Amino acid sequence: MAAALKMLRKMQDFNELNITDSVIERFGATPNPRLKQLVSRLAAHLHEYVREVEPSFEEWLYAIQFLTRTGQLCGGGRQEFILLSDVLGISMLVDAVNHSRPDAATETTVLGPFYVEGAPLLEDGADMSPGMPGEPLYIEGRVIGSGGTPLEGARVDLWHCDKDGFYDVQHADLAASTGRGRLRAGAHGKFRVRTTMPVPYPIPYDGPVGELLTATARHPWRPAHVHFMIAHPGYETLVTHLFASDSAYLESDAVFGVKASLIQNYVRHEQGPMPDGTPVAGAWRHLAFEFTLKPQG
Ligand code: BEZ
Ligand code: FE
Repeated sequence: MAAALKMLRKMQDFNELNITDSVIERFGATPNPRLKQLVSRLAAHLHEYVREVEPSFEEWLYAIQFLTRTGQLCGGGRQEFILLSDVLGISMLVDAVNHSRPDAATETTVLGPFYVEGAPLLEDGADMSPGMPGEPLYIEGRVIGSGGTPLEGARVDLWHCDKDGFYDVQHADLAASTGRGRLRAGAHGKFRVRTTMPVPYPIPYDGPVGELLTATARHPWRPAHVHFMIAHPGYETLVTHLFASDSAYLESDAVFGVKASLIQNYVRHEQGPMPDGTPVAGAWRHLAFEFTLKPQG
């Protein structure tokens, strides 16, 4: 008892300056060196933030309640934490630090919450939005490796919103998937698909992330885009979008996903037919793009 009291008296009280080193020291025995780095630097940066902004107890409690509500909204197709990471620019920063690509490779951007594993497999040239209203869109792609090799057999997933700005998974009453599909690149790495033109849409803003956007006078909109995920053995899977060059919000995408090389002309034609002979009643769009994959390793 006396020895314990003596030791306590010798110990330095934690204060605003020394507590950071004490926390880092406490993680000192972490066996995994990467985990040790991750948790120690997290503590260091969070402590620095607190010293800088000096939150009141009310503000700290609000932050905890905000994160609690963010977690409570996750599940059943909603991932509010990913949205939070997106609007804070963290998703794009993680993307940037992981992709220092050679000039030739197509640039990457956020995956987003509307990707669905196991989309319907389509024939080359198929209509992936049958019966859906909207401006018809003809997409022609080619998949190559950064050396120029055509990647025949590459797996191409693509998905986009409908003319009202909703993905199929956001419609509770939709029986089959639409505005999404999976294709295999054919000879010379080429693929084609017919669909409808996407429009700008707001990211879900009826939760804590929406509250954050409103309180900070930010809008929730994303410019019109089609998502692509392209995979081939021996190459890094490419996750990207192609943005329509005539869309609103290219300069102020809510999730910071726009890169200049991904802004493409969805060429407008006043009348049909489409390149594969499909008749069209009015105007339609044509998007053509060559996707370049980076070799693994
Ligand atoms: C999307 O493009 O599907 C998306 C990306 C980030 C947040 C919300 C939606
Ligand atoms: Fe999207």
